Amino acid sequence: MSFDLVIFGGTGDLAWRKLLPALFQAFRHGSLPEGGRIIGVGRDDMTDEAYRTIIKSRFDAVDPSKRPNTEEFDRFAATLFYLRMDLSKPEYYVTLAEMLNARNAGTGADTVVMYVATAPALFTTVCEQIAAAGLNGPKTRVVLEKPLGHDLASNRAINETVRRVLTENQVFRIDHYLGKPSVQNLFALRFGNSLFEPLWRREHIANIQITIAEDLGVESRGAFYENTGALRDMVQNHALQLLCAIGMEPPINAHADAIRDEKLKVLRALKPWTAETLSQHVVRGQYTAGTISGQPVPGYKQEAGVSAESQTETFVALRCEIANWRWAGVPFYIRTGKRLGARDASIVINFRPAPHAIYQSPAGTANRLVINLQPKDGLELHLYSQGANQRAPAGSKSTQTLAPVQLDLDFDKRFGSERVGAYERLLLDVLAGRLNLFVRSDEQECAWRWVEPILDAWKADTQGPRPYAAGSWGPSASSAMIAKDNFCWAEEC
Ligand code: BG6
Repeated sequence: MSFDLVIFGGTGDLAWRKLLPALFQAFRHGSLPEGGRIIGVGRDDMTDEAYRTIIKSRFDAVDPSKRPNTEEFDRFAATLFYLRMDLSKPEYYVTLAEMLNARNAGTGADTVVMYVATAPALFTTVCEQIAAAGLNGPKTRVVLEKPLGHDLASNRAINETVRRVLTENQVFRIDHYLGKPSVQNLFALRFGNSLFEPLWRREHIANIQITIAEDLGVESRGAFYENTGALRDMVQNHALQLLCAIGMEPPINAHADAIRDEKLKVLRALKPWTAETLSQHVVRGQYTAGTISGQPVPGYKQEAGVSAESQTETFVALRCEIANWRWAGVPFYIRTGKRLGARDASIVINFRPAPHAIYQSPAGTANRLVINLQPKDGLELHLYSQGANQRAPAGSKSTQTLAPVQLDLDFDKRFGSERVGAYERLLLDVLAGRLNLFVRSDEQECAWRWVEPILDAWKADTQGPRPYAAGSWGPSASSAMIAKDNFCWAEEC
């Protein structure tokens, strides 16, 4: 299969950090179809050679185990091309069309992928111009990066434009969390085994905690982040997609729409916000100066591109419920933030305690399944156990004490660390036309509809985000929120 993969934003951060390294890994492992061209599009004037040289220098700066040797890079570089475009001007799309159509004796490549990794403001322009240049035929697939819009109205506007020029099956709305190996494994755990299914419901589960913690700050993205914040950047998409993967019913098969239909039902079933839940069940925070890994780091307001008066949240914790027969009354807690105590993403499922205690009350926590997403990925099953060779303390009448133990499946140790990364997996899916791990427009709209009341409530709230010191686990109000239900965050209990 021949393909052309055009990256709009080919000199941007995402292309350097994620897309090109992922494409290189696919190439290195022989999974990138042969006969492909990767065309980076940018505003600067540059030759193909200059583009390849820049990419080489970026690759040299990465983790040595992933760095290509010269021979490997040269073979990869032969697939790389560069095109200068002003994305607002139709004539540049005509040039692109000529470049694409010139292949295969004038018929173009078998598959054409347009990856729109630009500022979101350009999404609709790029889609319209692709169509105007006749590049929206059936062999074209368009990948749209998040954030797709700023709120429900802007998201709908983008989706409407996209729908005018492309069919839904041509549109790959990417959420890279769905490409993470541990998220694939979550689907496998739930729908490839019958073990947990009977327990995966309100009768047996006390609460579920989704944490996506980052120790990094906003880095060089201060200006972008100022207008985005953690709710739009992480909750509306990544965290809600994880919630769907946990909360959805088993799909009737593994086809894209069967999966997406079930995720949509979860989003539709999210309990609507009320004035009371908005004030009691949502906490927003913003980091102040602190210490990460022993190093002092500045507060959010001191970051480049950030206003000294900023009210942008860098942390969100919230409690929500899926109002259906499986989940009614089970709290789902979502928490995400920058400059937290560690880089740690996990889903913790706390099962209910045994209904009748015949053992002495054990210390520690068990009855818990932990799905680790990063930095290590795997599964931990926390159980109580009798322990080995227990001798009763002198004078004690009973030996019936329990201690927590852990069954630990570390995917790196089990399957090796060379597993396919999220972007690599998703890019290969686009090339193969597999939509399973991409988000449909109705899912996205539903997620925006649900987060919007939070954004509105914040607009009206003069208090602003609560401060938390970099290196902590967020404002204390986050622990207080969960404590109201007599639960605590996994690291606190
Ligand atoms: C992106 C957000 O979607 O996800 C970033 O825009 C965030 O702000 C990143 O840092 C986190 O991704 P990962 O894979 O590093 O957890």
